[in-house]
Amino acid sequence: MRVLVTGAGGLVGRAVAEHCRRSGDEVLSYNHTDLDITDRDVVRQTIRNEPDVVINCAAWTDVDGCESNRDKAFAVNAAGPENLANACREVGCVFITISTDYVFDGKKSGFYTQEDEPNPESVYAASKLDGEHRSSRSYDKSIIVRTGYIFGPDGTNFLSTVVERARNGTRLKAIRDMYGTPTYAKDLAARLRELAVLDKPGIYHVVNSGPGVSFEEFTRKAVELTGNRNAVVESVSAETLNRPAKRPRNSRLRCLLTGAVGLPDLPFWETALEEFVAAELTQER
Ligand SMILES: NC(=O)c1ccc[n+]([C@@H]2O[C@H](COP(=O)([O-])OP(=O)(O)OC[C@H]3O[C@@H](n4cnc5c(N)ncnc54)[C@H](OP(=O)(O)O)[C@@H]3O)[C@@H](O)[C@H]2O)c1
Repeated sequence: MRVLVTGAGGLVGRAVAEHCRRSGDEVLSYNHTDLDITDRDVVRQTIRNEPDVVINCAAWTDVDGCESNRDKAFAVNAAGPENLANACREVGCVFITISTDYVFDGKKSGFYTQEDEPNPESVYAASKLDGEHRSSRSYDKSIIVRTGYIFGPDGTNFLSTVVERARNGTRLKAIRDMYGTPTYAKDLAARLRELAVLDKPGIYHVVNSGPGVSFEEFTRKAVELTGNRNAVVESVSAETLNRPAKRPRNSRLRCLLTGAVGLPDLPFWETALEEFVAAELTQER
């Protein structure tokens, strides 16, 4: 396949480009400077190169920053996917855009499925939900993938920091009262490609399997896997962090479509975490 990846400099974008390349695809990789998804004309021109698939991994992911710049949040996270969806409709290619578990308000006690009504409580989440709506309105073949708690390699994301601090014995703060379903960027990338091949429009919830976990449990598990007994994990409540944006306390996801379209569940998050920590430790040696 000829796969165009936007936001290819980000955590998920890198994983997607790498996975598609390894799968034998021709990958057209665009980072932010190569392609700004808010520029409608440039987006149209770029997609006229006629890729088979466009996977949108570009977003403004600074959840707190979005609170104080609503215009930018909606330009990137809502108008951006709309521009891409329109351009994909014109050439008739597959379009996948990534959304977030934060579209839910977190008040449910169980897992969120596609049947649950989103109720975004931050500007970031509202802009992402608007991106979902605008994508499907612009192109009815849009594939929307909600995910959350993503971890992967690069040295700057939450779990890479955990692994590094655990190795150095530095103190770590971990939130005890936020629950999600972790997602390994590598597994997400593989699922995105499978969905592109299937080409069945709809909303998918893509996360690793398992019971869901608090940030604290997740952090402790990662620290345990590093084998460093000196690392100190401090348990904190989300409220004490006084962050500008509200985040859902529970954003565990489950997908009603995966089995129906013939795809297996993704590996358990603990298995994925083991693989990730082992890879991080090998790299640092
Ligand atoms: N990480 C998570 O836990 C998580 C959870 C749920 C959903 N998601 C979703 O997953 C997707 C990928 O996120 P990620 O974790 O890979 O985030 P990321 O590492 O922040 O990557 C996003 C990329 O988008 C680029 N970008 C920003 N504005 C752009 C624009 N106008 N045009 C083109 N590119 C632009 C950024 O470039 P610059 O940095 O140079 O601006 C960055 O490289 C996003 O849709 C996000 O909302 C992530």
